[in-house]
Amino acid sequence: MIKAYRNFSQIVTLSNALKKDGRNLSPEDLSIIENGSIVFNGKEILWVGKDSEFPEEYQNILPSEFDNKILVPELVDSHTHLIFGGDRSLEYSMRLNGSTYEQIRASGGGILSTMKATQNFSREELFELACERIELIYTYGVGTVEIKSGYGLTFEKEKEISIIIGELKKKFEGRMQIFNTYMAAHAVPSNYSTSADYMDKVVIPLLKEIAPLKIIDAVDIFHERKYFDRHDCENLFKEAKKFNIPVKMHADEFEDNKGAVLACHHNALSCDHLLNTDVDGIKALANSNTVATLLPGTGFFLGLPQANARAFLDAGVKVAIGSDYNPGSCHCDNLLLIASIAAPQYKMNLCELWASITLNAAHALGLKDQGAIIKGLKPRFSIFEAESIDRITYHWGKNLFLAGEH
Ligand code: NIG
Ligand code: FE
Repeated sequence: MIKAYRNFSQIVTLSNALKKDGRNLSPEDLSIIENGSIVFNGKEILWVGKDSEFPEEYQNILPSEFDNKILVPELVDSHTHLIFGGDRSLEYSMRLNGSTYEQIRASGGGILSTMKATQNFSREELFELACERIELIYTYGVGTVEIKSGYGLTFEKEKEISIIIGELKKKFEGRMQIFNTYMAAHAVPSNYSTSADYMDKVVIPLLKEIAPLKIIDAVDIFHERKYFDRHDCENLFKEAKKFNIPVKMHADEFEDNKGAVLACHHNALSCDHLLNTDVDGIKALANSNTVATLLPGTGFFLGLPQANARAFLDAGVKVAIGSDYNPGSCHCDNLLLIASIAAPQYKMNLCELWASITLNAAHALGLKDQGAIIKGLKPRFSIFEAESIDRITYHWGKNLFLAGEH
C-alpha cells in the first residue's frame, strides 16, 4: 500500500551525510527539507521533497498530515547487552562510595556476577524481560536494536540466549528490527583456566553449532586484558569468516591494546568503546569502513574520561553512538538521552550527532539500505513532536517521540 505523509515542519533527510559516507560532516549535511512530504510503500521511499512540489501522480492518495512534526531516519541502537537477569545496583553505590570497576570485578562483582544471576532465569523469563525492555526502547524512537548475547556463562545458556534473540527478531518483525550479535566471548567463567580454554570449549564450538541456524548477524568479543587477547579474536574471526558472519569488537576500553587496529584489519563492522584508542587506531579507522561506535553512557556511569570523539571525527572516522545498555557499566536504555548529553562533551555538530544515532549506527550493523530519507532506501523513520530538529536534543530527557514507521 502506498502512503503519503505530508507537511512535516522538517524532514531531516541526511542525504548529504550519506553522500559523504557519514564522515567529515557539517551542520548543512543534515539536508533538511522545510515543509516536506514523503511517499512510500512497504519496501521503499518513492518520493520525498517540498510539499509545494508534491507530484501529481500521488495526489489521489489520502494523506496523513504532520504539521509541527519532524521526520528523521529511524534511530538505531547498535550496541546493547539487554538479555540479562538480576541487577547490579549495589555496584553502582559501591562506585559512588569509591570502588573502581576493576576492584568490583576482583571482589566477585562485574560481568561474571550477572552471568550467575542470569543462570537463575528461565528461557521464558529472559524472553519476557527482553520484550519489556525492547518495548521501552521503542518508545524513544529506536526502530532497530542490536542485542548481544554474553551473560550465559555456560554452553547451554549461551545457546539459549542466542536462540532467544532469534525469537525476538521474529516476534518484533514489522515493528522493530532486531540484530543478533553472538558474544559468548564476553568474560571468561572462573571454571576455565585461560581465555583460550574457554574459546576452545565454548565460544568456538557453540558458534559452529548455531551458525548454520542462520540466526546470528555478527560476532563480538571483549578484547581487553584479563578478558580476551589478540589470539582469541583471531580465532573467533577466522571461524566467523567461514560462515560469512561479520565481526565486531569491544576495543581499547581500559587501555590502548591496539584493538581498533586489529578490528580494522579484520574489516569489522564496528569497534566499540575506544576510550583509550591512540593515533594508530584512529588512523586505521579513518582508512577503513569500520565504524567507531562510542558509548558515552558507559563513561558517564563509570565516571571515566570519555573517548576523544573530536580526534576521531576530525580524522574522517565514521562515528556512531550506542547506548551499551547493560546491568553493570551503563544501566541506561535511552539512546537519544545519552547522545543528547554526550554531544556537547564530544563537541559534535548537530549533523554529527544525528548521523551517529541513525545513518552511522545503521552502518555499524551493516545496514546500508536505511539511515537516510531518500528515494529508494527503506522507509524506516521516526516522527518527533517538534517544530524544528534543534528542539529534540535541546530538551534532553523529554521524550518527544510520536510514532515510527519501520
Ligand atoms: O560493554 N565491556 C564489556 N561489556 C559491557 C559491560 C558489561 C557489564 O559490566 O556487565 C560493556 O560495557
Ligand atoms: Fe558493550
